[in-house]
Amino acid sequence: MRTAAFVFVAVAAWANGPAPTFSRDVAPILYQHCAQCHHAGAVAPFPLLTFRDASKRAPLIAAVTARRFMPPWLPSAPHFQGERRLSAAEIATLQQWVSAGAPQGDPSAAPLPPAFASGWPLGPPGLEAAMRQPFEIPADGPDRYRCFAIPLARAPQRYVRAIDIQPGNTRAVHHALLFQDVTGEARRRDTGGGYPCFGTPGFLPARGLGGWTPGKQPVPSLPGMAETLDPGADLVLQVHYHPTGKPETDRTRVALYFTQEKPRQHLTDVPLTSNRIDIPAGERSYKVTDHFTLPVDVDVFGVIPHAHYICRDMLGTAILPNGARRMLIHIPDWNFNWQDQYRYRTPVRLPAGTRVEMEFTYDNSENNPRNPNHPPRRVQYGAASTDEMAGLHLEVLPVRASDQDELGQALWGKMMRMLGGGIYRRQ
Ligand code: HEC
Repeated sequence: MRTAAFVFVAVAAWANGPAPTFSRDVAPILYQHCAQCHHAGAVAPFPLLTFRDASKRAPLIAAVTARRFMPPWLPSAPHFQGERRLSAAEIATLQQWVSAGAPQGDPSAAPLPPAFASGWPLGPPGLEAAMRQPFEIPADGPDRYRCFAIPLARAPQRYVRAIDIQPGNTRAVHHALLFQDVTGEARRRDTGGGYPCFGTPGFLPARGLGGWTPGKQPVPSLPGMAETLDPGADLVLQVHYHPTGKPETDRTRVALYFTQEKPRQHLTDVPLTSNRIDIPAGERSYKVTDHFTLPVDVDVFGVIPHAHYICRDMLGTAILPNGARRMLIHIPDWNFNWQDQYRYRTPVRLPAGTRVEMEFTYDNSENNPRNPNHPPRRVQYGAASTDEMAGLHLEVLPVRASDQDELGQALWGKMMRMLGGGIYRRQ
């Protein structure tokens, strides 16, 4: 049925005008939405720059874009900055091009393929550093999460306005996060080749400086919100490695950009989380929820969702005091491999009394193609990759700076209730 509808649409469009060609219609779509990952040396397994590249895989391109599997972008709503989504018209153009036999058209009409700078896109950094030695990734086996301490020379306090990360091996590096460690713990654990660390980097506080995921451009901090780099801090790079089928090595590099501007404010993390997770084997729709009522007016700048492999659906909602609902995020098909943090195009203002809610749904059945267990087995809360987690972190700023303490106290109370709940459960 669906194929028939496609053909009908394609024929109807064809009847209205000439079929799309690679040069005129398809190349601009590929250059804007695909090339940043699909070029030599980048994260995707093949380039999509020339007519040859694209025509070889034309049916696959039509199929993965129609399913919205490519470009990878998890939230179905609302709109965020840096969104990687094709419009319905762009998807239709690709379908029609393939139905028409993937014609090249006039090569001289094609735009020039984008050039990819080999240096740092933000220019020369204030500090550049690398993993102390290359890391060897075996040809196969499970994914690896590894932390590398990058000791820094003692320096006065500095303010970081942006970071960038350049993976040493884009085939094997799936994503990377940069932290600062003021405890010396990472330096003690890493005797040269890093140490295993799934979930957290293994020290507290783990102060995040930013991260890299495939296709992501560096995002400078908002004005007045730089991160303070402590005088005695070490950098710690947490890298998720994905075996490629042959032995690989990686030496990832990082860049820090400083500003003289002392931070005036910091985004506050409003965590919606739960450790009450105990999912029976075979359970298809297990819900985990949390909520918090905002004591003061806030602006929400961004949202960071987190779970492991068997979570399927993530929903964050705000219920305003007048009863109106606002969707904060919906991810209908969570994929641990495409973790990201999302910034709203304009901050979402929520008045005091708004209740923010998280509802995550887990599928622990054979039905879930990403279930790592065959047959499925009971999964509980925990930090290992085979355990599960639930977290929806809202990055907020009180509308009035004088409300910061009240927000902090309410969040403290929430944390205490959660810990209390945990103790109560164990009795
Ligand atoms: C953010 C990076 C990124 C972007 C943007 C991106 N891709 Fe991909 N693509 C990948 C990666 C990585 C893979 C390998 C599969 C995986 O890891 O899921 C892939 C795989 C593919 C595949 C093979 C799928 C299969 O089943 O074998 C096709 C076809 C494809 N991409 C087409 C596209 C098209 C067309 C676009 C633009 C409309 C696009 N991609 C945009 C990263 C990207």
